[in-house]
Amino acid sequence: MKIFIDTADVDEIREAAKLGVLDGVTTNPSLVAKTGRKMREVLEDICELVPGPVSAEVLSLELDGMLREARELAAIAPNIVIKLPLTADGIRATKHLTDDGVRTNVTLCFSPLQALIAAKAGATYISPFVGRLDDVGHDGMDLIAQLVEIYGNYDFDTQILVASVRTPTHVLEAVRLGADVATLPYAVIGRLLQHPLTDIGIERFLADAKKIPTS
Ligand code: G3P
Repeated sequence: MKIFIDTADVDEIREAAKLGVLDGVTTNPSLVAKTGRKMREVLEDICELVPGPVSAEVLSLELDGMLREARELAAIAPNIVIKLPLTADGIRATKHLTDDGVRTNVTLCFSPLQALIAAKAGATYISPFVGRLDDVGHDGMDLIAQLVEIYGNYDFDTQILVASVRTPTHVLEAVRLGADVATLPYAVIGRLLQHPLTDIGIERFLADAKKIPTS
């Protein structure tokens, strides 16, 4: 499973990239707003830091505006992926961009049938939001299981990109279900590494190492 980071904070991306296991980045307007910086500047910096796919979201809600923004965003760097909302116009834009060879990430997916339509439009990635489903009393990971089944049934090429990830448990379930990608907040990436028994083990090894004769 590929690991993306879900942030527009360049310092977080730089730090996470040092692990050497970061495959890409996803951003959204809320994440860019948090930085207090201009969208284009942020995306230019991110694309320089990470060679993998960097999702950049359009703000228009109608087809022509989406396609215009997509062209502007795609011109920033070759690794930009155009993020579009799961609406009728978003799906139409996805189909246009796919036909033009532009990679897309269809976002704000909350149902398997929305995901079916995105795949039929040729989306490169579909972003189901598991945390936001959990927030309203649904099981977000159940949606991932359904997408894995549906896309597998018909050999769709669209990659399942698990988004709105809040916990390491989301990541564990995603990898067990065979999702293609999970996009993780910086804090969750850190938590994947941590285990108290690892820390205790290191302490014990170091304490015992002091007892090893040196001559
Ligand atoms: O990738 C989509 C993600 O950023 C949404 O996460 O935590 O705002 O639901 P969240």
